Amino acid sequence: MKIRLLFLIFCLSLFASNVFSQSNSSNQKWWKEAVVYQIYPRSFKDSDGDGVGDLKGIISKLDYIKSLGVDVVWLNPIYSSPNDDNGYDISDYRNIMKEFGTMEDFDALLKGMHERGIKFVMDVVVNHSSDEHEWFKQSRSSRTNPYRNYYHWWPAEKGEPPYRFSQFDVHRNAWKYDSLTNAYYLHYFSIKQPDLNWENPQVRKEVFDMMNFWAKKGVDGFRLDAFQFACKDTTWPVFPKEDYPKDFIKYHAMVEPIHSYLKEMYDNVFSKYDVMSVAEGAGRNFQDAHDLVDADRNELNLAYAFDPIDARWSKDYSMLQMKKIFSKWDSVFENKGWLSIFLANHDNARLVSRFGNDDPQYREVSSKMLTTFLLTMRGTPFYYNGDELGMTNIRFNKIEDYKDIAALNGYKYAQSINGDTGNYITFLKENGRDNGRTPYQWNANVNAGFSNGNPWLSVNRNYKTINVEAEEKNANSCLNYFRKAIQLRKQNNVLVYGKYELIDKDNSKVYAYTRELNDKKLLIVLNFTKENTSFATTLDISHSKILLSNYSNASKNKELKPYEAVVYELH
Ligand code: GLC
Repeated sequence: MKIRLLFLIFCLSLFASNVFSQSNSSNQKWWKEAVVYQIYPRSFKDSDGDGVGDLKGIISKLDYIKSLGVDVVWLNPIYSSPNDDNGYDISDYRNIMKEFGTMEDFDALLKGMHERGIKFVMDVVVNHSSDEHEWFKQSRSSRTNPYRNYYHWWPAEKGEPPYRFSQFDVHRNAWKYDSLTNAYYLHYFSIKQPDLNWENPQVRKEVFDMMNFWAKKGVDGFRLDAFQFACKDTTWPVFPKEDYPKDFIKYHAMVEPIHSYLKEMYDNVFSKYDVMSVAEGAGRNFQDAHDLVDADRNELNLAYAFDPIDARWSKDYSMLQMKKIFSKWDSVFENKGWLSIFLANHDNARLVSRFGNDDPQYREVSSKMLTTFLLTMRGTPFYYNGDELGMTNIRFNKIEDYKDIAALNGYKYAQSINGDTGNYITFLKENGRDNGRTPYQWNANVNAGFSNGNPWLSVNRNYKTINVEAEEKNANSCLNYFRKAIQLRKQNNVLVYGKYELIDKDNSKVYAYTRELNDKKLLIVLNFTKENTSFATTLDISHSKILLSNYSNASKNKELKPYEAVVYELH
């Protein structure tokens, strides 16, 4: 009897462990374990001396990219484009931008990445196209053209259309009057970026066909640019102008039936390949974000939420707030769905300038602290090129130095409302997108080794000290720290799948958390200030092992030096 009982218990435990490991392994995905490295192609490496980065330039640096230890590269758009918004205005979705090279270059780049075990994510910009796309040219030409319905038009005889906010428009108005057919067209971004009409099944088919074209070439993932805005309520309800920009997301994001369009995209594209999918923006609230990436719903894989970086813009931003936001997002995704972890990209300030301290005294140490954060949180890290060197904001003083359409039109808008352009420049110096777009700093030679020609955007003056060549030689550089942090993540699955728990939650200077999986537990402590400080925990760290730190003499006495970061393995 006893033996039978024991046997039964044994069988049950086998069954349970099997079920557990099955569900566990079905939750394991390559894109959860990956570190994504975002390359801004225009600024990475110029191979032909025209001052603009290109695909051959990236090819020449593939071994370097491999040496970082990253698994996936996401390239900002590389399609044909008149470059009103640096490639986010596409005039041909099946061709490569002339300045960047040719389709042969693209094929060679993809091959070179795959040979090195690196996956490739394509930026898909289909909320809008360029006004120079053939579809728009046709659409614009007459009210009866078969492409008319590819975009949103409002006949002028109906009067002015209900106001819609545009992020890049000089007048902040998303409707542009076009005398050719006496109608207005919609553009949530610049006037050269007309919004595609997703309600038109033909448009959806064109987009899915185009995505299949790239998937068949072998790309491993798609990032859907501004996709949360793709659907419009075409009954065009009136939204009060004064509610903008505050309620912009509320009015413009996640309009139904966006989820059914994403399911269509899943059925027609994603389901056919082993690709990862991520949409920029995560909707109006947690529910939206969750619905986007709930695996059972078959829409997308990863949410890319802006709350953490948007919060940094507010005047009363604090560390406590940052901890709260990240912890809340983590808790929402604890059991289902998956997040991206990022604090910078091509639309934002430099990582160290915004979240660390780019004063020479603290630049390196705070930059390494932030790298520690990005690579030890739960979620897939999206790491922006140049941040691994600790590159900083350029902080141009004059509008003439800026190239970004958002900055140039924002300046004109400021002029038009009150002429207070000084304030706007102050804003741009800290937050302008060109800060993150200055040429990548390879060495101390002319133009930081980026180009033999005249770079499209000025090189940051600090390139003589902050560059790859110098950092390669220094075992303690930001660059080598980034490599170490990636290896740490790779060697410790707990950093990918482990539970996240906030420690010392009311500490306004230190962000501390544990990551725990099976019997492994790591404690990560990060001092986000330039002061010496301490943290409190009941965890016993006296017997822990220090796995990573940005100081050579990290201690176990719960004291932290300025911007100190320590990863402890608890025993
Ligand atoms: C996204 C891109 C940004 C671009 C905008 C319009 O936000 O990240 O760079 O300007 O969409 O396409």
